Amino acid sequence: SNNIDRTPEGVLTFAGYDVTQLAKEYGTPLYLMDEARIRANCRMYLQAFRDHFGPGSLPLYASKAASFKQMYRIMAEEGMGVDVVSSGELYTALSAGFPAERIYFHGNCKTDADLAYGVSQGIGFFVADNREELLALEKTAAEANVTQKILLRVTPGIDPHTYEAVSTGKVDSKFGAAVETGQAMELVKLALTLPHLDLRGLHCHVGSQVFGEDVYQRTLDIMVPFLASIREETGVTLSDLNLGGGYGVRYTAEDEAINIPARLAELAAHLKEETERLGLPMPRFLMEPGRSIVADAGMTLYTVGSVKRIPGYKQYAAVDGGMTDNPRYALYQSRYTVYHAYKSSSMERFDVVGRCCESGDIIQPGVELPGDTCRGDILAVCTTGAYNYSMASNYNRLPRPAVVMLTPDRIYEAVRRETFADLTALDL
Ligand code: LLP
Repeated sequence: SNNIDRTPEGVLTFAGYDVTQLAKEYGTPLYLMDEARIRANCRMYLQAFRDHFGPGSLPLYASKAASFKQMYRIMAEEGMGVDVVSSGELYTALSAGFPAERIYFHGNCKTDADLAYGVSQGIGFFVADNREELLALEKTAAEANVTQKILLRVTPGIDPHTYEAVSTGKVDSKFGAAVETGQAMELVKLALTLPHLDLRGLHCHVGSQVFGEDVYQRTLDIMVPFLASIREETGVTLSDLNLGGGYGVRYTAEDEAINIPARLAELAAHLKEETERLGLPMPRFLMEPGRSIVADAGMTLYTVGSVKRIPGYKQYAAVDGGMTDNPRYALYQSRYTVYHAYKSSSMERFDVVGRCCESGDIIQPGVELPGDTCRGDILAVCTTGAYNYSMASNYNRLPRPAVVMLTPDRIYEAVRRETFADLTALDL
């Protein structure tokens, strides 16, 4: 990514800053975020939405990718909407001053407390997942004497050919109701009978880290005809269509670089064609990008603690973080690009591993590093802005790293490093 570079002396830089200086000043492990890149990614979506989709259309940042107050402030300033998946994310967004009406509340198992909290705060939309939620939300909205706008989450039966753990749009998914089985239509009809719910449209999300050129087109080929059947069977023309998130990002040189504005232009053209063919109005269009907003704005710095060579087998470089700050290799065998802070001409292969007490604590196997890599050296793992801090844990009682934001004229902590006192704060 072009926010990663080296000085003429060969020192690695991120967003223009020498990573060894940042490591020295803030300690490691450390999450870095390039604020200008986050904003540029938002603007790319916002501009494409203005260019190609109708009034009210909006990209919603899927805040599960990286959720902390400053992120919601940036999203508010950029004019994005956000999607939240829990009362915790909702609380974080609201306490950062994010406007409630631009919040969409997701989840396949919202509790009564979640529903009551969202309704009482006047959030824009619930994305309703199932029958029980519709009935419970109706009750909550009635008690509060409000009409709550909702979208209904459906599964279009699309296989996005990404990894199984993040594939969500297939008929047998735990999320939403399937179009194919008729259950989605049943829930639409139910929602339309509930007086305190205002069903505005449909939502679907087929998966994450999606590259396929035609995945969203095929999704539209299910969703738009479904909007037409809803009109046919109920007389109601739903105005909103939310296709979820999922555009893939480049973790390594082998990953394709997706031109998102071009993809959105094609998608808009296809949507126009399909809606015209079926005599439907162009919907208010929504998407929920998470990874493609923040992933390439992130980098993680570590300090090497030991180098272990096992003759005839392999060699390890162990670092001062691990699956606690980045569980993605352990969970999904995710690929990452890893750099040593200094350039070298003699590279060797190392498994970069963490400090947790299990062998599965691998950041990345088979990384090319200088042969003389040793204790005290700084390593940088690229593209860690999405699903790293948000999936971090305190396993082995490791404190979570700070999140440091880099801007051209200012460096600041968006999240401070956890202390040992934080670790025991809840222990009674
Ligand atoms: N909307 C919904 C309803 C979602 O479930 C998700 C992601 C998104 C939007 C955002 O998708 P994105 O644009 O970020 O691909 N922990 C996994 C990723 C889980 C994604 C879950 N849902 C990982 O680290 O790869």
